[in-house]
Amino acid sequence: MPTSETSAADSARHVAALLAWYRNMGADAAVGHEAIDWLARGEVRPGATFEMPDFGAAKPVAPPRARAPAPATPSAPPARPRVDVQMVPTSAPPSRQFPTSGPDEATLAAREAAKAANTIEELQARLASFDGCGLKATAKSLCFYRGAGTARIMVIGEAPGAEDDKVGKPFVGPAGQMLDKMLAAIGLGEAEVHITNIVYWRPPGNRTPTPQEVLICKPFLERQVELVKPEFLILLGGPSAQIILAEAEGIMKLRGKWHDVTIGAHAARAIATLHPTQLIRTPLAKRMAWRDMLAIDAALKGIGKK
Ligand code: URA
Repeated sequence: MPTSETSAADSARHVAALLAWYRNMGADAAVGHEAIDWLARGEVRPGATFEMPDFGAAKPVAPPRARAPAPATPSAPPARPRVDVQMVPTSAPPSRQFPTSGPDEATLAAREAAKAANTIEELQARLASFDGCGLKATAKSLCFYRGAGTARIMVIGEAPGAEDDKVGKPFVGPAGQMLDKMLAAIGLGEAEVHITNIVYWRPPGNRTPTPQEVLICKPFLERQVELVKPEFLILLGGPSAQIILAEAEGIMKLRGKWHDVTIGAHAARAIATLHPTQLIRTPLAKRMAWRDMLAIDAALKGIGKK
């Protein structure tokens, strides 16, 4: 006979199982007090600004009068009850802009916007108003850069994580703490480096950014390199190394070697190393990263320059 204690334990187990399932599906961070029902966009045309419903005040709305119900066919599945949520402009949560254009148009718009920026602040403002990258719709914040506005060393990672998204800066979570230790090991602090990523918004569930998302953000990254004017680029992990070095090899092949690269109109020397997250997961890999950091230290001191 179930008691109220066993049923409370059962529901706690069910809630824990449901949360574990959400986490496995990629919903691993709570960014608002209310869940967003993206399906409630309903018939809003693609690209339109989606005003998030105010769930507290959501009321059922009458179905549009003009539209007659579709005739039932014998093979049609039973109609699901439709939940109509009033799409009202609300001042509480910000509106989310889904990209209105295709990837080619978005890349073109990114190029135009980036080219027109003459300072790092202008570039940040242009990025903030750029709606061509789909990642923006699901992220909480733009994570542009951390560290110095212009620097001799620019560090380029993959994509902001959950902590970064909350704070609005790249590499402030566990990976950032590991990165800070790697830089401190060769005497570098935030004042000497400019830290950014190949995409500026957190991909949902921390997935790897798609090639399309990377290409759309690339004009901004190129302009960022031109404005920061680094002598050295440190590329963290495979996706960053592959896009900057234009190589398809994995990070184990790419790491530890210097490359002369031209990004936009700026020439620099680039070296790839292991991503800090990889060092957290596989502490033995720190040996390789340490070798790379020593190579960077030597280059900074002008030792062994070609
Ligand atoms: N945080 C970032 O900003 N970039 C990464 O690649 C990982 C975590």
